[in-house]
Amino acid sequence: MSSELIIFDTTLRDGEQSPGASMTVDEKVRIARILEKLGVDVIEAGFPAASVGDFEAVQKVASQIGDSRICALARANPGDVSRAAEAIRGARASRIHTFIATSPIHMQAKLRMSPEDVFEKAVAAVKQARASTDDVEFSAEDAGRSDEDFLCRIFEAVIDAGASTVNIPDTVGYTMPEQFGEMFARLMNRIPNADKVVFSVHCHNDLGVAVANSLAAVKAGARQVECTINGLGERAGNASLEEIVMAVRTRQDFFPCDSRLDTTHILAASRLVSNITGFPVQPNKAIVGANAFAHEAGIHQDGVLKQRDTYEIMRAEDVGWSANQIVLGKHSGRNAFRERMVALDIEFSSEAELNLAFDRFKELADKKHEIFDDDLQVLAGDSAASQRDETLRFVSLKTVSQTGDAPVAELTLEKAGSEETAKTTGDGLVDASFRAVDDIVPGDRALLLYSVNAITAGSDSQGEVSVRLQENGRIVNGQGTDTDIVVASVKAYINALNKLQLSPQRFNPQSGETV
Ligand code: KIV
Ligand code: ZN
Repeated sequence: MSSELIIFDTTLRDGEQSPGASMTVDEKVRIARILEKLGVDVIEAGFPAASVGDFEAVQKVASQIGDSRICALARANPGDVSRAAEAIRGARASRIHTFIATSPIHMQAKLRMSPEDVFEKAVAAVKQARASTDDVEFSAEDAGRSDEDFLCRIFEAVIDAGASTVNIPDTVGYTMPEQFGEMFARLMNRIPNADKVVFSVHCHNDLGVAVANSLAAVKAGARQVECTINGLGERAGNASLEEIVMAVRTRQDFFPCDSRLDTTHILAASRLVSNITGFPVQPNKAIVGANAFAHEAGIHQDGVLKQRDTYEIMRAEDVGWSANQIVLGKHSGRNAFRERMVALDIEFSSEAELNLAFDRFKELADKKHEIFDDDLQVLAGDSAASQRDETLRFVSLKTVSQTGDAPVAELTLEKAGSEETAKTTGDGLVDASFRAVDDIVPGDRALLLYSVNAITAGSDSQGEVSVRLQENGRIVNGQGTDTDIVVASVKAYINALNKLQLSPQRFNPQSGETV
């Protein structure tokens, strides 16, 4: 059995199915670039049959990424498979990933198909995909709740039809690690042509065991893991790439394989994905959370100083953490700025984007004397976002707040090229400011989430605000940063409104819903 563990990243496809996580084509290319730098073997770039936008995103990623294999998802039907084939045509190395559900509940209630029809569709889709690429993956959706005899039969047939990877997903996050590992071992044993393919695992985190299940499968013989940066994905998310890669790398005494990833780019990838999708990373998240390597309790600090591995089982720098030193200040020049950005894995798509980021850095340095790496990460994301063709832009905000009086916000926004101002009161400055936005941009929407996070330590830290808005059944996330958290809140709100206008409705390949 191979000692190479293939890392298949599906942040751009399954991650994007997470409500509010939709990304523009350029954002997808930026994420694909960092995945390529990380050394990800296969990048699932999207589901081309969903829309023209999704098709173009896959096509653009396929044309710009050379070191990772680019994969497109297709349901097991002729239309999807030919759309996928067309989208990946320009890739240096490509793959079609076709799937169909195999569990009784999915076949009856969702597909309304008999097992025989499912079997035939699976084989036909793999044959069709093989006609345009020699790298075809087949997934039995909801395998975790499927009948094993049926799985053996369908996997044997798709392997005969030309699939080179077979994927066993726990689509609904239902199985337990021991059970899933045993199921993997049995399937690999029972399928007569199992030695001709790579077995892959794909787990969701509904019961919090997506990573444990994936690792159990690796232990049982899986040699491809499907995962996402930060564990982004539908509902409770997918198995997290950084946790799987670091578990396998750290426990080489336990796992008989390893990935080829350059893990020093993990943190940059995590931050980029969080920044683009508006999903903040929880502080206690393994590997990439702010506390992951912060040994705060006195006893730990003492232990770590005496001998590092008393409490640290990994080196922070191996996953991209550097001491959060003051890197730049008011007097730093463009070259120092550019060099630090390169060290942080932050790329600019043009000189204009770099100049814009540098101007923002200067503005920030006027307000905040010490600029940390974390500030620079956020600033880069904001500069890229501000280059988008957005209809709403923040201009200014004046707020008045005094104990006993209703807070007042006077807000000016640029709306489709001209400035509009609204003055409102509310139950607090954030509420007053959001009402002012609503006056300028009326709409029937619900604020599903509002959270504030300090980017660095200290009371002059920039506040990073995340909001989630729902309008006409669509959900989007918005993020904003500023040293003033009310301004950061307004920026997050208008970022979400811009996304509601810019991002098209999306079709979910699994549920068939449009959101
Ligand atoms: O969760 C799942 O089953 C999937 C398939 C499309 C592989 O995402
Ligand atoms: Zn999935």
